[in-house]
Amino acid sequence: MEKKLRVGILGATGMVGQRFVALLENHPWFEVVTVAASPRSAGKTYEAAVGSRWKMATPMPDAVRGLVVANVNEVDKVAESVDFVFSAVDMTKAEIKAIEEAYARTETPVVSNNSAHRWTPDVPMVVPEINTEHFEVIEAQKQRLGTSRGFIAVKPNCSIQSYTPCLAAWKEFGPKEVVVTTYQAISGAGKTFKDWPEMVENIIPYIGGEEEKSEQEPLRVLGKVENGEIVKAQLPKISCQCVRVPVLNGHTAAVFINFEKKPTKEQLIERLAGFKGFPQEAGLPSAPKQFVQYLADDDRPQVTLDVDYEHGMGVTIGRLREDAIYDFKFIGLSHNTVRGAAGGAVLCAETLTAKGFIGHK
Ligand SMILES: NC(=O)c1ccc[n+]([C@@H]2O[C@H](COP(=O)([O-])OP(=O)(O)OC[C@H]3O[C@@H](n4cnc5c(N)ncnc54)[C@H](OP(=O)(O)O)[C@@H]3O)[C@@H](O)[C@H]2O)c1
Repeated sequence: MEKKLRVGILGATGMVGQRFVALLENHPWFEVVTVAASPRSAGKTYEAAVGSRWKMATPMPDAVRGLVVANVNEVDKVAESVDFVFSAVDMTKAEIKAIEEAYARTETPVVSNNSAHRWTPDVPMVVPEINTEHFEVIEAQKQRLGTSRGFIAVKPNCSIQSYTPCLAAWKEFGPKEVVVTTYQAISGAGKTFKDWPEMVENIIPYIGGEEEKSEQEPLRVLGKVENGEIVKAQLPKISCQCVRVPVLNGHTAAVFINFEKKPTKEQLIERLAGFKGFPQEAGLPSAPKQFVQYLADDDRPQVTLDVDYEHGMGVTIGRLREDAIYDFKFIGLSHNTVRGAAGGAVLCAETLTAKGFIGHK
């Protein structure tokens, strides 16, 4: 790309916002020109507004340190400085819905990490290796909003990324029943051990709203476009329990699965190894070369060894074996703030750019 696209980050001072800032350092297509957050941070430099809250393992990029933080609520002012925005604000669902739509109406595409619009019928919710064809509904959304280039696209919840790629890769065998337990990292709540000491040596068997998302969102990703709306898939039936565990980054999932047509273990592993989509075919900058890796060792995947596979953009599966009650069981692992949040959204934005939905204003 000759001239980089100008990017704004809404919620730039938070955990996911910081991840966007870190991932976009030296991005070949996108340049962060505007960082926006709550009125508490507005007017300060990014460095001062974040202060001791910087949670990334790499230093804060020099290019953003001195940027003066804008107020997310000053929509026109932020919108006029950028070609599109990433959204990672933490407000009420109704407020997020309204503000993301307000940005779209200024002809500014919004690629969101938030859940507010995940069930808006004409808003695509995309894992780019699985369902880029859902971006088709953007045309219907633009008609509803009365825009020519403004729209909202979202990525799904972090919890589903450790097992949904398998459901897509194994589609030909008809996954029909799935029972999942997720073991979710504390960064998924925007926290580190420093600001959540109660999580050290602890397990909490409840994450608000997460079980419903984990059961329902894969069905929307596996759904299809009909008359300008996304219609969710009917199968598989998914039952999920979500547990918070003392891990900083990385959501693990323990999964049991039944199929319409029971495959062999070898077939399942072969389909995972061969599974790829638009990001790999188009060679997008953030695309993992191998989206899903299968590890045969009995003690993998492990969070500390495997969470950063493909820079956190790949998914690791292991322990696939036949089960006494279900057809098979396995373990999945993905990075919740990279593939599951900011990285997944960056890959969506790259896909939207490659497909011509996002360009210079
Ligand atoms: N962490 C994850 O792995 C993850 C994964 C998927 C989805 N999410 C979702 O992503 C969103 C952000 O999560 P997070 O973990 O990054 O949260 P966070 O660390 O609490 O950051 C929240 C961000 O929103 C801003 N904000 C808060 N209240 C605001 C207001 N009233 N008006 C404008 N801006 C406001 C904050 O600005 P100030 O710094 O000025 O307060 C900050 O930039 C949430 O909706 C969360 O549910 C998180």
